[in-house]
Amino acid sequence: MSASIDLMSESFFANPFPTFERLRTQAPVYFFEPYQCFILTRGAEIEALTKSPHFSSRRANELLGGLGLLGEDTASKEMLADWSRLVFFQDPPRHTVLRQFIMKSFTTAALERFRPRLAALVERTLEKGRRQGEMDVVADFAEPIALNTIAELFALPEADRPRFMRWAKDLLKPSGAAVNTDDVRSSVRRTSNDMMAYLRDLLEKRRATPGDDLISQFIAGEEGNAHLTGEAVFQSFQMIGAGFVTSTNQLTNTVLALLKHPEQLSALRADPGLMRGAIEESMRLEPSVLSINRLCVEDTELGGTHIPKGRFVHAMTASANRDPEVFPNPDRFDIHRTPNRHVTFGVGAHYCPGASLLRLEAEEALRALLTLPRWELVGTPYNYQGSNLQDRGPSSLHVRFPKN
Ligand code: HEM
Repeated sequence: MSASIDLMSESFFANPFPTFERLRTQAPVYFFEPYQCFILTRGAEIEALTKSPHFSSRRANELLGGLGLLGEDTASKEMLADWSRLVFFQDPPRHTVLRQFIMKSFTTAALERFRPRLAALVERTLEKGRRQGEMDVVADFAEPIALNTIAELFALPEADRPRFMRWAKDLLKPSGAAVNTDDVRSSVRRTSNDMMAYLRDLLEKRRATPGDDLISQFIAGEEGNAHLTGEAVFQSFQMIGAGFVTSTNQLTNTVLALLKHPEQLSALRADPGLMRGAIEESMRLEPSVLSINRLCVEDTELGGTHIPKGRFVHAMTASANRDPEVFPNPDRFDIHRTPNRHVTFGVGAHYCPGASLLRLEAEEALRALLTLPRWELVGTPYNYQGSNLQDRGPSSLHVRFPKN
């Protein structure tokens, strides 16, 4: 490809889709020099990547090392040992065992039982915005909902929740190139180890006094299964860490997509049966996660391109969501779209286990927001300074709800 490709600037994150289209049509398997990795932009190669044994998810050392997070110090070693246990970093057969362990507690029925508590939580969160007639959708709505949802499910003590919000944000900092300094890197190691130490302590308390929460259920799942010993703490860390920023961004992206397409918002107001369509279409067109990645563990070929062992491959799921061969009129936001087989939650064995929770959160959040008569963007323009190839969403989004 002749002109250089930008995958790092704020303007790219504000609108990555023209770049994805260029890559998809001109170089669907593209070697990106600055990161020395391959970039995939078409669904066919992304699916092949997730099915091939030549590409691995056992990549904690290489991924954290590549971000400069690992030194020779004890904190680095501790962090790597912990992260290497996360389900996200496993291949079969261990991956299959851990997925079963997680999904046993995280069932659709359990989530449906949680719905009324979630609806009440959303309503409480919206109180201030309702009263004031305006709010920052990120800080006043999406963040507290995302945080408290996961906190309620794991019964994290109320007083400690702000700490979890800080921790979850801290852990993502090195993915943004602009803040990837030595200070940030050592603070990430500290955060990871502090959060893990906190959870170990909480787990011991929960072991002594179990409750009706996911930590207690993970502990029960370990019992009598020697091959699962210790997993409750690792997979709690994983679920809590993975569920906060992703959900915050997706709730915000959904509101923004509807604001940008008032005719679709009107259609949704007129027919709440379109709720699910609106959520799926926002996830397709404005996903909060742009990509997944795998490490090549054996020389191979993908879409006609040679991929050497040791290279990372970043698969742009957000680009596959706009492939015109799969989605007619791919850039059009259409809440009536069916089928809508977007790949925002990933493909294959690692498909996001939080998908049903996110859908529940988005449904309850939208249901509450639709009770407000009108939404209007106000004041401060939004930006994508906090975004990276993993997580994308505006840093703030000020919205007003005029009465008429
Ligand atoms: C809109 C919100 C979300 C999006 C877009 C999203 C996206 C994804 C994607 C694409 C993957 C696959 C990664 C891969 O193939 O390597 C994934 C995995 C994962 N997600 Fe989510 N996620 C979201 C919310 C959540 C929530 C709320 C939770 C927890 C409650 C969660 C927990 C996880 C976990 C534990 C994994 C690892 C699964 C595995 O490796 O088998 N996610 N997510």
